[in-house]
This record gives sequence, C-alpha cells and structure tokens, in this order.
Amino acid sequence: MANERTLSILKPDATKRNITGKVNAKFEAAGLRIVGQKRVFLSRREAEQFYAVHKARPFFGELVDFMISGPVVVQVLEGPNAVAKNREVMGATDPSKADAGTIRKEFALSIGENTVHGSDSLENAKNEIAFFFSECEIVG
Ligand code: CMP
Repeated sequence: MANERTLSILKPDATKRNITGKVNAKFEAAGLRIVGQKRVFLSRREAEQFYAVHKARPFFGELVDFMISGPVVVQVLEGPNAVAKNREVMGATDPSKADAGTIRKEFALSIGENTVHGSDSLENAKNEIAFFFSECEIVG
C-alpha cells in the first residue's frame, strides 16, 4: 500500500466542544500519523476559496458561515492509503448514515456540523495540503 498524505480539518464544532484530542486519538488508532497540524481562524475569503468546488450548492453560504464561526485545526495525516483510510475513519458526511465507531457517528452534530473534513482524492489532497501548509511545516 502506498504511503500517502491527506488534508484533514477539525471543524469549529470540534474546537468549541474541546474534543480535538478525542478525534486525533481516532486517527492515531487507525495508523494515521499527524505530520502537520495548526490551529487557525479562517477568513471568509479563505473558507470560500477552500470550498469553491461547492459554490453552486444551496448549502454553500451555511457551510462558509459555519467554517468561520470558530477556530479550526488543519492537519496533514500520513500513512498507508491515507486518503481512503481517513475517509473510512471519518464515516459518511451525514452522521445518521455513518458506521458505528467512526468519528462522525460518535461526534458529529449534523450534516453541516460534522466535526471533520477529509480530502476525497489523492489529487485533491495535494492541492488542499498546499492550500494550508508549506513543505517545511510537514514533519514526517
Ligand atoms: P466536508 O467533507 O467538509 O465537505 C463539504 C461539506 O459541506 C461537508 O463536509 C458538509 O459539512 C457540508 N454539507 C454537505 N451537504 C450539506 C447539506 N445538505 N447541508 C449543509 N452542509 C452540507
């Protein structure tokens, strides 16, 4: 299995409830290493840019408002098949459809306030990591 890197975001519902450590424990238990991590407060412009692919969706405004409602933790996760592994650990976008034991099943409040974001492909992971991190901020 190829060693990969993927971009993860612990969303404002996670920082507000002080559960970032509990979420990180899930990544680490699944064999994902946190090789880059920082807590940031996104500007509206940054959130709009990051989620530009969803611009035409009816929930775009709500999504951006939520992502700037508090600090987030942006992370680079590394490990074998990290993109797919992270999506497995996160669970389905809608927590009511997420499998037992996944982060969203255990912690997400709703489809919007769903605790974590994770890249959905290796190509997007590269772009999303570059959006937040310089190479020297990633220490494997
Ligand atoms: P994320 O993985 O961060 O990617 C896009 C986000 O849009 C997604 O998680 C959800 O939080 C959010 N989202 C998707 N569908 C809806 C929806 N129907 N209503 C509100 N937010 C949504």
